[in-house]
Amino acid sequence: MKTLGIETSCDETAAAIVEDGSRIISNVVASQIDIHARYGGVVPEVASRQHLLTIIPVINQAVTGVLWQDISGIAVTFGPGLAGSLLVGVNVAKAIALARKLPLIAVNHLEGHIYANWLNSSPAGKKDRVEFPCLCLIVSGGHSDLVMLKGHGQFKKLGRTLDDAAGEAFDKAARILGLGYPGGPAIEQAGRSGIPCLPLPRAWLKETHDFSFSGLKTALWHLVHKGEVSVADAAASFQLAIVDVLVTKTIETAKQLKVEQILLSGGVAANETLTQYFLANSPVPVLVPPPHLCTDNAAMVAACGYYHFEAGKLSGYDLDVVPSLSLG
Ligand code: KG4
Ligand code: ZN
Repeated sequence: MKTLGIETSCDETAAAIVEDGSRIISNVVASQIDIHARYGGVVPEVASRQHLLTIIPVINQAVTGVLWQDISGIAVTFGPGLAGSLLVGVNVAKAIALARKLPLIAVNHLEGHIYANWLNSSPAGKKDRVEFPCLCLIVSGGHSDLVMLKGHGQFKKLGRTLDDAAGEAFDKAARILGLGYPGGPAIEQAGRSGIPCLPLPRAWLKETHDFSFSGLKTALWHLVHKGEVSVADAAASFQLAIVDVLVTKTIETAKQLKVEQILLSGGVAANETLTQYFLANSPVPVLVPPPHLCTDNAAMVAACGYYHFEAGKLSGYDLDVVPSLSLG
């Protein structure tokens, strides 16, 4: 079964065709990063207008070489995200579903991120390589969620960030250090020539599965404003502080809950140091999609949509966006 996935929750306009929830036929992402970089972050109004301009060309490119009669469903992100941006994807998906008489499948963006692990270019390779129960760490620009997954669609949220998300912390730290946007890749790059030698705090929040990164960001600000720190060392130290907390708390939880696997996802999972620390320290297999499937894309939405379709979870034309949607 081929599913068309559509993703417009933030600053990427994306469409993809995925077969049987795992095989990527096409995966088109039009990034708005260059447009928002000059403002140092995503400007919602600019993002939704840009989605309007690019959504049709992006979908046309994704379906090139595929027959419409071979597509069995339209999966679309309906939240969480920016309302104006989500509306573009959801309305285009409804229009196509109506015109082509295809089922409409609503996908939670966070669940979509997790399903990037089912795609064929992920280590899981084939859809049956993921083993339940597994522990999912979703680390993106808006979320740092720790979620137990017992089977398809059976989520239990264990923890979340109490303040800044991991990606948001990277973005804010990059601004403090005068690096570019988005901050994660900029900090990773700057940190390569640095030594993680600066004393930055870790908020362990013992006895909980929650995270907190805003104190770390403030500590970085104070260090930088005292002067005499190298940007490279500061970037390496900041990155290590985030990685240390994410890896330690997730692995501790995985041991407590005796899960089969740990699944990483979301833009921050593209971070090489994070992945290396997980792989070096976890007692259970750690799956992480390749970097281009960690950041926002529509293949993950199509993969997730396939499992909804299999479970008979379809939406009507009254589907609306839910900007504050959560998982579990
Ligand atoms: O999942 P994503 O593409 O969009 C959201 O759903 O938010 O995640 C974007 C976030 C940004 O905050 C970005 O700085 C971060 O992921 N990010 C990274 C890396 N690549 C992207 N953070 C750390 N290291 C990276 N290599
Ligand atoms: Zn995302």
